[in-house]
Amino acid sequence: MVSKVTVKAPSSTANLGPGFDVFGLAMDAFYDTVTLTKIKKGIKIITEDSIPANPEKNTAGLVVKNMKKKFKIKDGIGIKIKKGIPAGFGMGSSAASAAAAAVAFDKLFGLRLNGNSLVEFAGSGEKASAGTIHYDNVAASVLGGFVIVRTDPLDVIRIEPPENLRMCVAVPTIDVPKKKTKVSRGVIPKKIKLSDSILNLSNASAIVAGFLNKDTELIGNSIKDVIVEPARQRMIPGFSKVKQNAIRAGALGVTISGAGPSVIAFSKNSDSLKKICRAMSKGFTSSNTKCQTIICKPSKGAADKRKYYEKSSCCF
Ligand code: HSE
Repeated sequence: MVSKVTVKAPSSTANLGPGFDVFGLAMDAFYDTVTLTKIKKGIKIITEDSIPANPEKNTAGLVVKNMKKKFKIKDGIGIKIKKGIPAGFGMGSSAASAAAAAVAFDKLFGLRLNGNSLVEFAGSGEKASAGTIHYDNVAASVLGGFVIVRTDPLDVIRIEPPENLRMCVAVPTIDVPKKKTKVSRGVIPKKIKLSDSILNLSNASAIVAGFLNKDTELIGNSIKDVIVEPARQRMIPGFSKVKQNAIRAGALGVTISGAGPSVIAFSKNSDSLKKICRAMSKGFTSSNTKCQTIICKPSKGAADKRKYYEKSSCCF
């Protein structure tokens, strides 16, 4: 009988421009690690990171609580969390802990859940940090690669990204609001123009075609969002300059990573990646803001086993 399971879950970028709450991409920039251990009773969180230790307020804790209830598990569970993903910067930090917890729970109790169910449980943990459930980050973190999330009913489509896809992520050194995702969702317009919706839909469709055809140029040059990005960019000092600089340095497309404030540039594996990072840094410097830059590529998910995808919608 297994009594202890450790699972690593990757960082992710949500939206990819026009795919708000629908697209996610797992990135090998950072990982969270969650170890679940059977204990006598209750749910106990052990961590050295500054995250809530109350299971109700912790994304991994909430996942474990929900799964324990759903599957009528009597054992107590110890949750050890090691955060590798900076929290609050738009790289799916809370989602990764939730994803790792869901996959670890599945393994610890031999549940053999399919991809959609794992994503659904992981999403239930996101509520602890974002207030609302959106599955883009958790789906990417659980399944890896590029994901398309359909809801009602939840159905995740996974596509293997092209080998040469690379991202440059610039993480500004700024204070982020406490409920950042809630705040940055609050600035999005409630009503949008039909012409803007058409533009976003055309680009989102092109991104999907790009992933299916392993066409990195098409993915990159379709990263265009005329609805959410214009509303959120005010929350990121120097955003326009960072974006302009990255494009001039050779990036195919640039947008806000998730709910921000990190900015992500898409490119092909080439020599220009360092140049793009430097250009983005300079963009932030023009607004007196420091930043950390990371070059990364798509990652595998926490549930990196074919069997987890079997009952999901499809997988390319
Ligand atoms: N799709 C979400 C948003 C991701 O942009 O608000 C946040 O993690």
